[in-house]
Amino acid sequence: MYIGVFDSGYGGLTILKEFLRYLPEYDYIYLGDNARAPYGTRSFETVYQYTLQAVKKLFELGSQLVILACNTASAKALRTIQQKDLPRLDPQRRVLGVIRPSAEVIGRYTSTGKVGVFATPGTVGSRSYELEINKLYPDVEVFQQACPMWVPLVENDEHLDDGADYFVHKYIDSLLAQEEEIDTVILACTHYPLLLPKIKKFLPAGIKVISQGPIVAQSLKDYLTRHPQMDSKLSRLGKRIFLTTDIPEDFDQKAKKFVDNIIEIHSQKISLI
Ligand code: DGL
Repeated sequence: MYIGVFDSGYGGLTILKEFLRYLPEYDYIYLGDNARAPYGTRSFETVYQYTLQAVKKLFELGSQLVILACNTASAKALRTIQQKDLPRLDPQRRVLGVIRPSAEVIGRYTSTGKVGVFATPGTVGSRSYELEINKLYPDVEVFQQACPMWVPLVENDEHLDDGADYFVHKYIDSLLAQEEEIDTVILACTHYPLLLPKIKKFLPAGIKVISQGPIVAQSLKDYLTRHPQMDSKLSRLGKRIFLTTDIPEDFDQKAKKFVDNIIEIHSQKISLI
């Protein structure tokens, strides 16, 4: 059985890339709902419906475990799927997200107890980071900044050009205007690691920037060690399947930059409806 990895589009590839580094032996199916991306500005109900369709498809194709490698889907759909849908779909399977593992480590990085979250408007609106971080670290204060222009910059390949400076600078300034003692920021959208060179350019030196890929991969590794029953169901033939709901040729071409050109990608088209 596979590990399924889901994102609205390409962003989850930054997570898959780290899974392949930390856990290369397993078989993976990646599903990008490119035809309906972005999710970041969509309603709870829409993101939930789309994500549920994707999870069902990944189960149907043989995933024992599905990782929602999308913060927006993790924020808006994960809990309902875990509590309401999974018991009826198949209680032996699991769906996990990216917010909890990220929240778990944040307290280790901050000294001032003030952390910043850059995310899509959907993730910010859900307040999931604030809630998850405060469950684990009640004294840490969380400041959020919605960055609606960052995903389009990445998707349109403008993220490293001069034009991107304006929006990177703008959202960093808005976050730091909320609290000047922020000493740690988390890139709480799986697209944002591609903006890292620009973010580092405008973020004051000394503020730590956390990308989720390695954190989520380490967390999955720990999870599989703690759950040998799940681990034993996962096959280890090194298979990688890529699926998109839009044009496979476009997916293969655009996907390259999300995996640093180190993974070969030949996707197939599927429909979720
Ligand atoms: N990659 C998604 C996330 O982590 C955002 C992209 C989108 O808006 O669809 O939230």
